[in-house]
Amino acid sequence: MTTATLASVGSTNPLAIEGGTPVSKTPVPFMSTGLIQADIDQALAVLKSGMLRAAKKCEELEQRFAAMTGAKHMMTCANGTCALQLAYEPLFQPGDEVLVPAWSYIATVSMIVARGCVPVFVDANPETFQIDMADAARKVTPKTRGIAATHLYGCPVDIDAVQALAAKHGLKVVYDAAQSHLATWKGQGIGKFGDAVTYSFYATKNLGTGEGGSISCNDDALARTIKLLRSHGETDKYLHEYVGYNYRMNDITGAIGCSKLDRLEAQTRQRQANAARYDAILARIPGLIAPKTTPGGESVFHLYVAKLDLSKFRCTRDEFCKALGAEGVPTAVHYPRSLPKQPALSKWDRKDCPIADRLSTQVFALPMHHDLTDEHFRVLEEALAKVASRYRA
Ligand SMILES: Cc1ncc(COP(=O)(O)O)c(C=O)c1O
Repeated sequence: MTTATLASVGSTNPLAIEGGTPVSKTPVPFMSTGLIQADIDQALAVLKSGMLRAAKKCEELEQRFAAMTGAKHMMTCANGTCALQLAYEPLFQPGDEVLVPAWSYIATVSMIVARGCVPVFVDANPETFQIDMADAARKVTPKTRGIAATHLYGCPVDIDAVQALAAKHGLKVVYDAAQSHLATWKGQGIGKFGDAVTYSFYATKNLGTGEGGSISCNDDALARTIKLLRSHGETDKYLHEYVGYNYRMNDITGAIGCSKLDRLEAQTRQRQANAARYDAILARIPGLIAPKTTPGGESVFHLYVAKLDLSKFRCTRDEFCKALGAEGVPTAVHYPRSLPKQPALSKWDRKDCPIADRLSTQVFALPMHHDLTDEHFRVLEEALAKVASRYRA
């Protein structure tokens, strides 16, 4: 199997990783795009066919991914950001208050702002890192119309709590599953829940096609609207029912997605097995805290994000990560700031998300992908133990 890693794809620096600390010894690859010859052959077949636009391969991806996630409708699109925009536009109106996570990637919230809505930040659960639904309940006002919740790092949010709050107040729900392909809730695919679920197929995601995304939903009328918005609201040749966009995917991307879909379930199991190995390693090193999964959810570990108990060490998280890098272990920080502390969003900061702010000083992601080997885990455990004992308070 030919596997390209981030260290060798998209960078001329063999030690570079995306958004993480560079390493100075034989590196454990931080991520793997997992691209194999079959994927390249599928993309080439599309190129040779001349049918480059969204066509059969996008449709195949939509049908298969819908079935795998428990959703009725799946609409591919250009990326995970426009997936959010296409989901939000029919469900939320300008001026609506929408409950959003203080701890997520910016797109979950920036597309709420782009819709003209008011983001109301909700703090994070310190153990699972997911949106804290008790805090969400406290922040509902007469103007609240929706919840945009991210299944972060591969871990589902407490879907029962989200749906209960939504039912109580008549709220629309969009789940951002950009990092959580094939995650499940109480044994069911996450596509069964909420008004819409969005995905990203960015290169490093569990299902990575380069760029790409999709939206799923279970309502026929909503699916129709999203399809129309995706393509200039066009109902017939040059007849436009809505003002929309060109947010379509293309069949080269679709072919890579279909080909990678064949391996997604097996790779997900491998990620989960790797997470269990990390849990065991971290349990042996005081001060390193493993992530917890929301009870009822099954995480697909897009990222394995650990936490540092800073009271147990004489260093900052960044110093700890730099030392790990020198031992051959690249890390990345998702995220160095909570969303209310982003300059672009600070206007909506109510300074009441202390847990998200604390997480920004504590968390770090360790290498996570389906290609980690026994030798990688040997290097990882040795490095973690060595750096932890060097900085032990
Ligand atoms: C939680 C989350 N939402 C949305 C996005 C946006 O996806 P894309 O980069 O495909 O636009 C990402 C991408 O990293 C993400 O992690």
